[in-house]
Amino acid sequence: MAKRKRRLRYSGPDLTGHVELNPGDKFEISLVGINDAGESTAEIDGAPVEITGGLPGEVVIAEVQKRFPERIAARVVQVLEPAPERVEPECRYFLACSGCQWQHVSYGHQLELKRDRVQREIDKYKCLSPVKVDRTVESAKRLEYRNHGRFTIGKRDSAGQVGYVNAVTRQFLRIEECLLMDKSINETLGLVQDRMHGQTQMSIRVGSNTDSMLVQPRMNMPGLGVVTGEQHYEEEVRGSRFRVAASSFFQVNTGQLSRAVDEVRELLELSGDEVVIDAYCGVGVFAVLIAPYVERVIGIEESASAIEDAKLNSRGISNVEFVEGKTEDALSEWRNTGGGDIDVVLLDPPRVGCHPDVPESVKQLRPRKVLMVSCEPAAMARDLNLLCADGTYKLEIVRPIDMFPQTRHVEAISLLTLEGQTVDGSGR
Ligand SMILES: C[S@@+](CC[C@H](N)C(=O)[O-])C[C@H]1O[C@@H](n2cnc3c(N)ncnc32)[C@H](O)[C@@H]1O
Repeated sequence: MAKRKRRLRYSGPDLTGHVELNPGDKFEISLVGINDAGESTAEIDGAPVEITGGLPGEVVIAEVQKRFPERIAARVVQVLEPAPERVEPECRYFLACSGCQWQHVSYGHQLELKRDRVQREIDKYKCLSPVKVDRTVESAKRLEYRNHGRFTIGKRDSAGQVGYVNAVTRQFLRIEECLLMDKSINETLGLVQDRMHGQTQMSIRVGSNTDSMLVQPRMNMPGLGVVTGEQHYEEEVRGSRFRVAASSFFQVNTGQLSRAVDEVRELLELSGDEVVIDAYCGVGVFAVLIAPYVERVIGIEESASAIEDAKLNSRGISNVEFVEGKTEDALSEWRNTGGGDIDVVLLDPPRVGCHPDVPESVKQLRPRKVLMVSCEPAAMARDLNLLCADGTYKLEIVRPIDMFPQTRHVEAISLLTLEGQTVDGSGR
């Protein structure tokens, strides 16, 4: 599953102590809003309640999962008045497992909720808010899209079992399959289920377009036909083969990664003579797939394993080079040493977004276009604002891409142009 962002520890007043509700208690409630975690929101006697498995406008019976000083966490156990967007969840573990927030929401409405989430973040900044966020680009696969499963191994009575841990209750849940996973991940899960004694975690990564697989950690499983502890696996994207080390990042939805590459190329309207920096380049997916359409690509990445993969993945491509290091350091060094003119900067930072020095360096390098790929809308909007607030860049397009169907998570691509330039690069 996508990495969970831990909620910050709450240190304010007790907002729920006056409410007589404890774990296991059931209560009827009308759902009002939806929060950034994808839960429905409501209040009981002024106490905030966050409910998984609901939709605004519904009346439900909910069961308390846990009480916190700042909120009561609950889940829907019966729907009395359903919203029109409600559908039957396909997964038997929905709500017992907390990995999917929106299996009960029609796919079309999931896409709208994701668009709205990105727009809410954009609207927080005056210089960005004139932009109307595009419709979310849908995923061809709504289930079986994940090429990477991270599982927990049970303890005590559940020792050796493979499953997930519920984010609210922290209870272990044994699973026979996860509907988000590529079929071959579930097949492997079936083989190792109940045999994982002595382990705490397991990761299975597969190439959706290859027959390559990587199971970690290394284990001794004679007779099962499961190879574990390999150091790399391979995936194919838009006809190019990528080696990925166990410690290197790779997008979990290969189909949507291909779509994202197409969108990036389309939005940049490349003419063939651009010098492009691909910052946070991972194993080089964007760099390699953009290289045929530009003059030169320089990839920057801090992970040594990913850089090693990227160099291998670009073998035979003469106009791509890679720099190992932090983007914030590499960009300021490029600036200070007069590395040369840059036409396009592509930023694909981790969930926390860019180091504050990165927008500053970009503004001094003055590429005609900046393209940001982001998996966290709040960090994305913050970084876009740093590029646009003083008028150096103008936000032109924000396009969410659904990398993570059935969940609240959303990826988005944003295009900025240097003020005084049009999207096609000509001066105004
Ligand atoms: C969201 S991933 C994007 C990877 C790649 N663009 C792709 O699509 O496969 C972010 C990448 O940034 C790298 N990273 C994180 N912080 C970094 C930093 N300060 N400088 C350079 N790379 C960083 C991570 O190792 C990871 O490979």
